[in-house]
Amino acid sequence: MSAQNSIGVTINQLQDMRDGNKKIACLTAYDAAFAKLLDQAGMDVILVGDSLGMVVQGNTSTVSVTMDDMIYHTKCVANSVNHSLVISDMPFMSYSNIDSALYNATRLMQEGGAQMVKLEATQRQTQIVEELSACGIPVCAHLGLRPQYIHKLGGYHAQGTDTESANELLFTSTALEAAGADILLVECIPAKLAAEITKIVSIPVIGIGAGKDCSGQILVLQDILGITPGKIPPFVKNYMQSCSIQEAVANYIQEVKSGAFPT
Ligand code: KIV
Repeated sequence: MSAQNSIGVTINQLQDMRDGNKKIACLTAYDAAFAKLLDQAGMDVILVGDSLGMVVQGNTSTVSVTMDDMIYHTKCVANSVNHSLVISDMPFMSYSNIDSALYNATRLMQEGGAQMVKLEATQRQTQIVEELSACGIPVCAHLGLRPQYIHKLGGYHAQGTDTESANELLFTSTALEAAGADILLVECIPAKLAAEITKIVSIPVIGIGAGKDCSGQILVLQDILGITPGKIPPFVKNYMQSCSIQEAVANYIQEVKSGAFPT
């Protein structure tokens, strides 16, 4: 049975928020419990990111994440959400040509329950975005640091740091908007460049490690909880400083062992 989302936050509302200078709050989630928690907290967007390759599956990159993985986790999230808009990542090589992009994006929406798909984009992907958009599939185009290119990039480095690459990102941003992208997501680019992109396009721009001037922000849930196994990017803020999940688990163990729980 396919997952169902009731309509909560829509792309029109995200656009209104952008137009009205109201910031869009986004976080990742990969399972029902956290999705419900974020949804009930009023999160605008939940991204079922292929970062699940690292934070859920324990891999060192997103490259090994499959379509079946994405559908499974998208379904877990979409089934539990009433308010937030659910975006799902198209995994590595699932959109290498128009046919595979259409086929796989359809699966994410029909089988997973996604309301929008995200793909990592350069100018090469503008035609794919155009086709998806023309078929009624909302698209978030992910620019700047594109983690699926890790083996090509040779590491997770900031992007758009020289004039040529910054101009290329500006050009690609407008091309993707013209192709029908509904949202841009910019990762690890200079704050000034992110601000410029946010100014020259008229769709929402969500930033991660891209300064404060984007239309909204996204982070990986496990990063802000301080429970990501391995390295946490320097731009992440830990929101659990004074009450960590680790402390809660330690207290639970202590109370079970001491007999204080259950009462
Ligand atoms: O996969 C993911 O979680 C992402 C975010 C880091 C933006 O793409």
